[in-house]
Amino acid sequence: MERIVSIVMSLAVWGMVVYGNVQEGNVVAGEQIFKTRCTACHTIGKGKLIGPDLAGILDRRDQEWVAQFIRNSQELIESGDEQAKAIFEEFKVPMPPHDFSDQEMKDLLAFLAQHPTASPAKVTTTPETSVAVVESAENQAWRTTLKSTSFHIAFWVVTTVAVLAYFALAFVIAGYSKEG
Ligand code: HEC
Repeated sequence: MERIVSIVMSLAVWGMVVYGNVQEGNVVAGEQIFKTRCTACHTIGKGKLIGPDLAGILDRRDQEWVAQFIRNSQELIESGDEQAKAIFEEFKVPMPPHDFSDQEMKDLLAFLAQHPTASPAKVTTTPETSVAVVESAENQAWRTTLKSTSFHIAFWVVTTVAVLAYFALAFVIAGYSKEG
């Protein structure tokens, strides 16, 4: 029995490690960071403020580049990065550096990644199409949430089934060895 308990315990620990690793960025935490640290200068899908509209930023730019720009845009500009220089030329205001932890950066990027390229503010067509674009943007955000939720549910179902199967097998083996 002690052996079974220790096996189950190690399976549970293993499950948590795997679960912790797959759970990359937290979108809700990222949104919180964005609201408190970025909305003074940026919108998502509502046009330029002091800085550019960040709708679809991760479709336009490399994730690593975006992380570096957020950490220290001036450093990136001074290093001679063409994209960084071009965007600075356009806005002429230096974006302040941000000292985020790795987790905070992951959360923030996960939040930014949720926002599709199609920015409703940029669409200059009939009201009907604008509504369609807004709706499809909402759909997409919702689908991303659904995808990660169902992933988490599936993960725990698989883990539970594996643990139960292990139990069942262990009991069957224990039963056999008693008989024998
Ligand atoms: C004080 C205003 C200000 C704040 C606060 C700010 N930014 Fe910026 N940001 C800018 C400006 C201005 C630019 C344009 C580039 C430049 O002038 O250096 C920019 C550019 C960017 C770019 C590059 C956009 C592109 O099209 O390449 C990203 C990404 C970005 N900001 C993300 C963020 C995030 C995320 C936050 C919050 C953590 C944030 N910024 C906070 C002003 C700001």
